[in-house]
Amino acid sequence: RPARFTLDPAFGIGAVNPRLFGSFVEHLGRCVYDGIHEPGHPDADEAGLREDVLALVRELGVTTVRYPGGNFVSGYRWEDSVGPVDERPRRLEPAWRSTETNEFGLAEFMGFCAKSGIEPMMAVNLGTRGVEDAGRLLDYANHPGGTELSDLRAAHGSKEPFGIRMWCLGNEMDGPWQIGHKTAQEYAPLARETANLVKQIDPGLELVLCGSSSFSMPTFGSWESTVLTECYDKVEFISLHTYYGLDREKPDLDSFVASAVDMERYIEAAVATCDHVGATLKSDKKIMISFDEWNVWHSEPASPPARPEDDWPRAPRLLENSYTLTDAVLVGSLMIALLRHADRVTSASLAQLVNVIAPIMTEPGGPSWRQTTFFPFAQASRYGRGRVLRVEVDSPTHSTERFGEVDLLHATATHDEEAGTITVFAVNRSRTTELPLEVDLRGLGDVRVVEHLLLTDDDPAARNTLTDPERVAPRAVDASAVSGSVLTSTLPPLSWNVIRLA
Ligand code: AHR
Repeated sequence: RPARFTLDPAFGIGAVNPRLFGSFVEHLGRCVYDGIHEPGHPDADEAGLREDVLALVRELGVTTVRYPGGNFVSGYRWEDSVGPVDERPRRLEPAWRSTETNEFGLAEFMGFCAKSGIEPMMAVNLGTRGVEDAGRLLDYANHPGGTELSDLRAAHGSKEPFGIRMWCLGNEMDGPWQIGHKTAQEYAPLARETANLVKQIDPGLELVLCGSSSFSMPTFGSWESTVLTECYDKVEFISLHTYYGLDREKPDLDSFVASAVDMERYIEAAVATCDHVGATLKSDKKIMISFDEWNVWHSEPASPPARPEDDWPRAPRLLENSYTLTDAVLVGSLMIALLRHADRVTSASLAQLVNVIAPIMTEPGGPSWRQTTFFPFAQASRYGRGRVLRVEVDSPTHSTERFGEVDLLHATATHDEEAGTITVFAVNRSRTTELPLEVDLRGLGDVRVVEHLLLTDDDPAARNTLTDPERVAPRAVDASAVSGSVLTSTLPPLSWNVIRLA
């Protein structure tokens, strides 16, 4: 039987915040060095930024970039990364066991953002540092002039303040792997004092409190409740992070493809916790979710240590997942999960942007290319604008080991009233059968199919590589039509579909 849902503009979830299409650049592996920054590359500009990568970043439709970490930020010394490049120190970088050369720093990041039309989202170090340092970084970055640090920025060549609005109060502070890991009772007062100071300097800043590093953290829920109770009036967002990967020993593909079930439960549980704290505090304010790390991440196969203990390489190849068509369908489904909660998830960052679990890959001195996961993100950013409409699917199901019975159809829709367009985003989770779809378009007036863009492949393991960079790409298909007020479509097995109506 077909999967069905109804679209009615009277039933909406909320406006899509463009910040939903953010990404993340960390000083990790080759994300920065030999990723976005490679002086000497034939396509590098005078600042060492690769123009070929910048063009792909623009095509990807990235709106914000979180920087400089990640685990890296918990040992970050921002002052190492400013001033004349040849005077910047080389340091041990313990989070990823690398050498940080500081050839790329704060001003270079702001140059990258300006050139690619991206809003920066800066994280402060609450691992090895704290309140005073956050204030000093804010003074350096955002104060117009007349203080030691803002004048230093000008002397370093950036006369205009950077004007960074969004600030993360640390990174994954609940994780035992984090440099300066803290309990919720330790983190909450530190975050509150930091928020107090930076908001005394600039009350207009938007602050992101650290939530749990994943839904499966043993402290999930109690962490949120403790830190929000202390910081509720001081922050605008709480962060969520999640990564989904296949178990190499026992790959369970049906559960993997259905991972958005977990992501939606995670968002709903976090929202419930925020609202519980808000109710307890008798506050009218709503805390928003910044889903500022999400992606597919397959762990590397177990292998003997690649590097001797005393080796601290610069920009090593770390976390360089090569994504399949299956991974891309899941990334599309995770994007659908975020859109379906657009009323509360108003900021998100695909982790990461280049080379490190990334939609864009580069070769030093060589080309750059789009991974399979590039396409669902780029299409969602391009067409997923306006308001999200409520989608309640009535779908055939299949049984999965991890989530039990799961709908084969995962879908959302956006309505851009100004442009007069409706876009349906739909994933068929079945790996074997095509899925007929019927959408009742009541209340949307006279609409027709503009195009149906399809991402699928006969080989679920197909991927784009250095030697075959265009193996997987979306294509327009003739698989959707509107008759009367009903849209009918056919969704091939394991596919990501964008059906545009106007
Ligand atoms: O994105 C890779 C890492 O994953 C980040 O540094 C960290 O925050 C998370 O655990």
